[in-house]
Amino acid sequence: MATPGQDKHESTRSGQIDLGASMAAVTEAAAIAATGWIGLGRKEDGDGAAVEAMRAAFAGQPVSATIVIGEGEKDDAPMLYSGEKLGKGGPALDIAVDPVEGTNYLAKGMPGAIAVLAASPEGTMFRPKSAFYMDKLVVPPVAANAIDPEAPVGDRLRTLARALGKAVKEIRVFVLERPRHQQLISDIHEAGASVRLAPDGDVLGSIKALLGERVDALMGIGGTPEGVISACAARALGAGMWGAMAPQSDQERARVERDGLKPGQILTRDELIASDEVMFAATGITGDDMLEGVRYTGGRVLTETLLIGNGMLRWVRTERNHT
Ligand code: FBP
Repeated sequence: MATPGQDKHESTRSGQIDLGASMAAVTEAAAIAATGWIGLGRKEDGDGAAVEAMRAAFAGQPVSATIVIGEGEKDDAPMLYSGEKLGKGGPALDIAVDPVEGTNYLAKGMPGAIAVLAASPEGTMFRPKSAFYMDKLVVPPVAANAIDPEAPVGDRLRTLARALGKAVKEIRVFVLERPRHQQLISDIHEAGASVRLAPDGDVLGSIKALLGERVDALMGIGGTPEGVISACAARALGAGMWGAMAPQSDQERARVERDGLKPGQILTRDELIASDEVMFAATGITGDDMLEGVRYTGGRVLTETLLIGNGMLRWVRTERNHT
C-alpha cells in the first residue's frame, strides 16, 4: 500500500494537486520498473519495462489523455504510441511521455536517468511530427523577456549575465557533448562563459537551467520531444525557452519540410505549449545531483519526483511497500 507523498511545498490549487498526484504516480511507476535494468547494458529492455509500467499506471488515472509525444507511431510502437488514448476519463489532455530519458545512463548505471512526462489541455501541445532534432535555448524566468534568441551566442550570454546580475565569466551553459556543438562551445568560451557538458539528458539539463541549479542556461541541439517536454516546465515557471527544428540529415530535413515545418524557424515557448495549465513530472531513476534515484530500503521503495505546474515546484518523496 502506498503512503502519501511528502511535499516540501504546499499547493493552493486543488485541480493542479490532483493532476500532479496522477502524473507523479505514472512517472514513479515507470522509474520503479526501470530500476531492474540499471547497469545491465540493455537500454531497450529497460525502456520497455518503463513503457509498460507507465501505460498500466495511466489506466487508473482520472484523465482523458491523448499521447502527442510517445514512443512513435502505432505500427512501430505497440504501447504509448502517438495518438493512443489513456486514462479512465477526466480532463482532456495532451500528453508527452519519455518513460526513460537518458537510456544510456540507465544501461550504464550512471546518474541522470529519469522517467518524465508533461501534460497540457487538449490541442495545446506542439506536434513535432517527424522532427527529431531541435535547437534549444532555455533560460531562467528572470531572463525570459530579456533575451533575443536570434542574437549571436556572445550577445545572448551578456544579456543573460546582466539579467542574472552576474559577470559573464560566472555564467555556465549546459550543452550536450556532441561534435555538432564544437562551434557553440567555442562561442561560449570566446564570450568568457563556461560549459557544463553532458553525454545525454537535456530534459534534466533544461530543468537545471530553468531553476538556476548549477547552470544558467541550456543551449544546443537535442531531441524535439525532449524540447516540448521541457517547454511545459518553462511555461509553468514563466521561464524562457525557444526551439527551432534542426534536422540532422537530408532525409530528416525532407520529412520535416513535407510535414509543413520550417527548419531554422524559431518557435517561442508559447508556440510549443499554448496554455498555462501545464504539469511536468520527473522521477529520478538512477539519481543525480538534483533528483534522487529510486532506493530500496527495509522492504520499502523510495522515489523522488519533481512536479512543476501552475507556477509551483513540488518535490514529492514517496515510500511504498516493496512487493
Ligand atoms: P534517450 O534517453 O532517448 O536515449 O535520449 C537521450 C538524449 O540525450 C536526450 O536527452 C537528447 O535530447 C537526445 O538524446 C539527443 O539526441 P542524440 O543522442 O541523437 O544527439
